[in-house]
Parts: sequence; structure tokens; C-alpha cells
Amino acid sequence: MTSRFLPLLPVLIVLALLATRVQSTDECTSYSTINDPTRSVSNEKNSEFALCDKGILTSESWVRFTGSGGTVIPNNPPQAHHCGTKSSGWIRGAHPAVAEGVVQRELCYRYNENECGFDSYEISIRNCGSFFVYKPPDLTECYLRLCTEILDECFFEPVGVSSPFVIPDNQMTASSYRENGKYSAKYGRLFNVSGNGWFPKNRNKTDWLQVDLGKEFQVCAVATQGGNYGKKHKEWTTAFKLLYSSDDKNRQTYQDGNGVDVEFYRVGKNHEVDRHKLSRPVVARYIRFYPTKIREWDSLRVEFSSATIISNFKSASIPAECSPSQYQELNEADRYWNASVKSYLACDKNFSTHGAWYRFAGAAGSMMAPYCIPKQSCITHGAGWINGSHPSEAYQLVSTNACFHWGSNCCVKSSPVQIRNCSGYYVYKLQKPETCYYRYCGVNGLYVYV
Ligand SMILES: *[C@@H]1O[C@H](CO)[C@@H](O)[C@H](O)[C@H]1NC(C)=O
Ligand SMILES: *[C@@H]1O[C@H](CO)[C@@H](O)[C@H](O)[C@H]1NC(C)=O
Ligand SMILES: *[C@@H]1O[C@H](CO)[C@@H](O)[C@H](O)[C@H]1NC(C)=O
Ligand SMILES: *[C@@H]1O[C@H](CO)[C@@H](O)[C@H](O)[C@H]1NC(C)=O
Ligand SMILES: *[C@@H]1O[C@H](CO)[C@@H](O)[C@H](O)[C@H]1NC(C)=O
Ligand SMILES: *[C@@H]1O[C@H](CO)[C@@H](O)[C@H](O)[C@H]1NC(C)=O
Repeated sequence: MTSRFLPLLPVLIVLALLATRVQSTDECTSYSTINDPTRSVSNEKNSEFALCDKGILTSESWVRFTGSGGTVIPNNPPQAHHCGTKSSGWIRGAHPAVAEGVVQRELCYRYNENECGFDSYEISIRNCGSFFVYKPPDLTECYLRLCTEILDECFFEPVGVSSPFVIPDNQMTASSYRENGKYSAKYGRLFNVSGNGWFPKNRNKTDWLQVDLGKEFQVCAVATQGGNYGKKHKEWTTAFKLLYSSDDKNRQTYQDGNGVDVEFYRVGKNHEVDRHKLSRPVVARYIRFYPTKIREWDSLRVEFSSATIISNFKSASIPAECSPSQYQELNEADRYWNASVKSYLACDKNFSTHGAWYRFAGAAGSMMAPYCIPKQSCITHGAGWINGSHPSEAYQLVSTNACFHWGSNCCVKSSPVQIRNCSGYYVYKLQKPETCYYRYCGVNGLYVYV
């Protein structure tokens, strides 16, 4: 560092400290614990003694709930005036799978008959494998308070039907679906409100909704909702049977220990989530729901939980960085290797951190080139490429180097890179270049440039 930067030294040190702090914070190891049975959904308190989270739970700290009052914030509206407050807080949306990393969900507060009153608040959630942590919003009003409930550990690892990134549309099929609307199988995802949920064409008992989980799971629970409709519609499945298989052919009906077909009964209506733990977990890849009793129409939205992932947290099937909540997209057109020369030069010195995950997308191309690209590609000087192989196996991770091509040297400078194959795209953990002008460039596929 030359002396003319000395006056900046204190600023640089503060910036460096901030950067370290951001990197070392992990909400799964650094959170505050709340053990408060008065938050339980079954605690009905005289509202005269209502409590409030304003100023107590803030966005400064992640929290984990423990103890007899419950360990998760409920997904169904609590009864009015429960949880030691006037307005009891619950989450409208899925708790994430481990692989989804940190997600944001709508936080609702029930006030009398209004199940989701007040301004819309959001809460961040992360699944830490055997527990959840939450980052509450900063409340501006009283009496709002988060509720908790006890949830069997089996429900802590959803397979991910609620996310189209985990279970793609082509893995959701059905015997039939109602036309003229968003009723097809792909809308049969728990918590999905982009469509109406799955509705078969006719109301008869031969209809089914099937999910292909992509590989075998040890399924220990199912969760269901009815269709996604407003209050005046009263159409939902009230009972169903499950058929499962590993090969999409030799299906077995789910039975209890005495060899009797199990019929699952739903008490929830359209939006309430019904959870059923399987007394006997089954290994399955294809699972079919056969509605057996209905209220007007056999609509469903579904999810499964897997017993296997919980005991195997570190090797969750889909790595966290493959989730859109964990990577940032690099999609600028001028990041594409042959972008037309502009009057300015670009550089990646302004990446926010050292070692964040990035996905090349859109006009920037779909990957980095695994060969030396021309200097001054992607409107910079030193053009970045990967000096090594990309991972060829699904979800494989490789550590390699990026080279920057400048002058007559294909590798005038290099920087470590990790690359994850996310089965359909790559994500790259990229270091911020310390100086300009170095930039990571995109290409499309392997053979665009020779
Ligand atoms: C709901 O499901 C549809 C169909 O798969 C999907 O296009 C949509 O993105 C889903 N909504 C959310 C919020 O995931
Ligand atoms: C039941 O479904 C079959 C085809 O899946 C259809 O042909 C038949 O009309 C349906 N019955 C009723 C009563 O809707
Ligand atoms: C860059 O390459 C693409 C094909 O990959 C081509 O369509 C485009 O015209 C090229 N742009 C320039 C500025 O050469
Ligand atoms: C810094 O990043 C922003 C957006 O991420 C981009 O628009 C800008 O051009 C970048 N600056 C340089 C010098 O590359
Ligand atoms: C990742 O792995 C899959 C499965 O082995 C392979 O087919 C694919 O070409 C690899 N690359 C990407 C971008 O998914
Ligand atoms: C690529 O990396 C290898 C070491 O892994 C190095 O020997 C080689 O010189 C690099 N390629 C270029 C063009 O610098």
C-alpha cells in the first residue's frame, strides 16, 4: 500500500471488519433462544394481559424457539386471542427444506375473525436440519406476538413439492384436470397460490394426483391443503388414500401394521394444512393421492416429508447454493464474451463479497468458458475464464481456478473458484478481483468460441 492511501486506512479497516462479520455470521449457530410456553397456540389468555413482541423480537437477531410451548411458528391461523396476545402471529407459506437456505415468507397476525390483519409483515426462515431459526421483522404496533406450536420432527424436512425448483412441473401428473383455469397437476403444490390447486376434471373416485420425487425417499409424512379458492368456494378433499412405488408401475396402497388400507381424513378446508405422520415410513419415488371423500370437489395441494434427510443434514440431497435464494444472477448483456465494445470498461471489483455464489443467466450466457477467451472480452481488460473442468456429475462440486487473459498471457492473474453442478445449470463461488479491470465473462455452452 502506498503512502497516499494512508489517510484511508481507518476506513479500510472498518470495511474489512464489516466484511468479515457478514461472512462469519451463520444463523444456524448464532441465534437467541426463546423458551416461553405462553406463546403456545393452545394458550388462551385473557386479552387484558396481552403481550407484544414490539421492541423485544427485532430484526437484529435470529431466534430459535424451544421448550414445551413449541418449536415452530404455525402455518395455520391460531384461534383468536391465543398465544398470550390479542393478535397471534403465524406464517402463510412453506417452512423451507435445508437445501433452500434462507427464505422470506408472509407473516400474518390473526385479530378476531381476520386471519391475516395488519400490514403485511415478512419473516426470514432457515431450516438448520433439526430445528428452524427465524428472523422476525421490526414491529411498529402492539399487540402482535409470534405463536409457537409443537411439530413432529418428521415434518422438519419437506421434500420440496412446494418449490418448482426442487420438483419440476413434469414430475407432477394427474389422471385428469379441470380445464379453463389453473387446475392442472403442477398447481397441486402445498402453499402454491399461483393457480387454483389440482382439480380433476370429473368428480369420481378413479382420479389421482401423482408426484414423482425424482429419486427414492423414505417418506414419513404427508401434508395437504384443498384448492386455492376464496372463502365462498367450499370445495376440497376430505379423505384420501395413498399409493406408492419405486418404479411407476407396481404400486402398493399404504396400509397400517395390520394390512388394512389407510384412509387419511382431512379436517382442514381450502387453506388449512393437514399433516399426517405415517406410522410406518415407506421408501418411494412415485406417490399417488386418491381422493375418497370430498366436499363438492376433490381438489388438493400436497407435500411430503422425508425421514432420511433429517438424520443426514450435512449431505442434504440438493446443495444450498443451487437455490435461487442463495445465488445471485449475473445476467448483464455486456458480460457475454463477445459483447460490443462500449465507451467504458467494466470490472468485478464491486462484487459485494469475497466468495458469494453466482449463476450466469440470460444475456450474460449460461456458464464461464472452460478455455482461454480473447482479452477484452465482456467489455473489460482481463477476461475471466475457467482453467479446469466443470463438474460433470449432478450436484458435484469442483475447486479450480479462474484465469484472466490480458496482454499476451492467457493467465496473467488467477483466482480460486468453486463450481457446483446444479443439474441443469452451474453456480460459481467467485472471488472479488482486488483491482480493475478484471471481469468474469459468460459463454453459451461449450463450443461458441474456437
Ligand atoms: C406455483 O406453481 C407453479 C406451477 O409449477 C409455478 O409456476 C409457480 O412459480 C409456483 N409459485 C411459487 C410461488 O413457487
Ligand atoms: C369418471 O372418470 C371417467 C374417466 O376418468 C369418465 O369417463 C367418467 O365420465 C367419470 N364419471 C363421472 C361420474 O364423472
Ligand atoms: C456474439 O455472438 C452471438 C452468438 O453467440 C451473436 O449472435 C452475436 O451477434 C455476437 N455479437 C457480437 C457483437 O459479435
Ligand atoms: C458495478 O456493479 C453494477 C451492478 O452490479 C454495474 O452496473 C456496474 O457497471 C459495476 N461497476 C463496474 C465498474 O463494473
Ligand atoms: C451436470 O451433471 C449432469 C448429470 O450428470 C450432466 O448431465 C450435466 O451435463 C452436468 N452439467 C450441467 C450444467 O448440469
Ligand atoms: C492452467 O492451470 C495449470 C495448473 O493447474 C497451469 O499449469 C497452466 O499453466 C494454466 N493454464 C494457463 C493457460 O495458464
